[in-house]
Amino acid sequence: MDRNNIAAQGTVLVTGGAGYIGSHAALALKQAGYDVVILDDLSCGHQDLVDSVLKVELIKGDISDRSLLDQLFRDRKIDGIMHFAAYIEVGESVRDPGKYYQNNVFGTLTLLEAAVAADIDKFIFSSTCATYGVPETLPIPDDHPQNPVSPYGTSKLMVEQILDDFEVAHGTRSVCFRYFNAAGADPEGRLGEARAHETHLVPLVLRTAMGKRDFISIYGTDYDTPDGTCVRDYIHVSDLANAHVLGLQYLLKGGKSTKFNLGNGNGFSVKEIIEASKAITGKEFTVKVDDRRPGDAPTLVGSAERATTILGWQPKYADIDSIIAHAWKWHQNRYGA
Ligand SMILES: NC(=O)c1ccc[n+]([C@@H]2O[C@H](COP(=O)([O-])OP(=O)(O)OC[C@H]3O[C@@H](n4cnc5c(N)ncnc54)[C@H](O)[C@@H]3O)[C@@H](O)[C@H]2O)c1
Repeated sequence: MDRNNIAAQGTVLVTGGAGYIGSHAALALKQAGYDVVILDDLSCGHQDLVDSVLKVELIKGDISDRSLLDQLFRDRKIDGIMHFAAYIEVGESVRDPGKYYQNNVFGTLTLLEAAVAADIDKFIFSSTCATYGVPETLPIPDDHPQNPVSPYGTSKLMVEQILDDFEVAHGTRSVCFRYFNAAGADPEGRLGEARAHETHLVPLVLRTAMGKRDFISIYGTDYDTPDGTCVRDYIHVSDLANAHVLGLQYLLKGGKSTKFNLGNGNGFSVKEIIEASKAITGKEFTVKVDDRRPGDAPTLVGSAERATTILGWQPKYADIDSIIAHAWKWHQNRYGA
């Protein structure tokens, strides 16, 4: 539904809105009738997608820049914040933790303090299943103990804790969404994953199918899983985006701070992703088997039961074929067949 012609229901600041998930959330917000302002330093984001697809205001800047934030909040009436801006690579966070604590924790703290000063009390935060660490039960429930095993996961858990404290001290109400593996693309192929340095399985497989990589690696085939390869919970990015709109509406209606898993509850193995990609693209490509990577859990699958019960959220594209078909359409649009 395109509601551009009716009065906006409020203005949402989307940090990291030029990136993968944030751009899909910005699109979903627009479609639900909200005005959107994006703050992105373009370290990984794409201005061309904001200009050509989202057509919303983009402020190029850093979430750690307090004077920029104060100016932004003085000049515009912002009703809520969706905070996606962060560094996201687990392996890099192990090699360079300071970079992750600086951006993901200090940057978020600066944003939150500026929001409190501007009387903005609704905050949606992109957390992650990486805050759980090694699962004790599967599917992982939202009240599972959180023992992250990487600085990336720790940085996100720290923000969850900061948000708890900000609620007590300042009345900031928040929804933390702990995503499992975001995948897929806008079903119309307008937005999708386009990182210069890609580490996610689906885009890597599709780039291999396009002939832009020589092969795809499977890291370990001897895990305790049905086919021996790691199993992950892939959640369609448009379903994630819709959950964010529901989360915002929940806060606008006066909902209390809470934290939700966002996953399908279904796992797919690395081999299943590769086979589905071959079937959907019709391309053959080389698959190499490599050693296990340290720190990879055999299975990570989450239960999103609370998001369904409390927000009424239902994933629309829970099957892996839709996720890959949409991502393939995007890859063809962006990079040519
Ligand atoms: N992709 C996933 O599977 C996944 C899973 C769990 C959680 N998350 C979280 O979701 C959020 C979005 O992830 P994504 O996959 O869209 O990543 P992305 O890299 O595509 O998007 C992040 C965006 O934030 C911007 N950014 C980074 N630091 C910034 C700063 N200091 N100031 C302003 N802008 C900044 C980047 O330019 C980029 O556009 C992140 O917080 C990530 O931790 C992602």
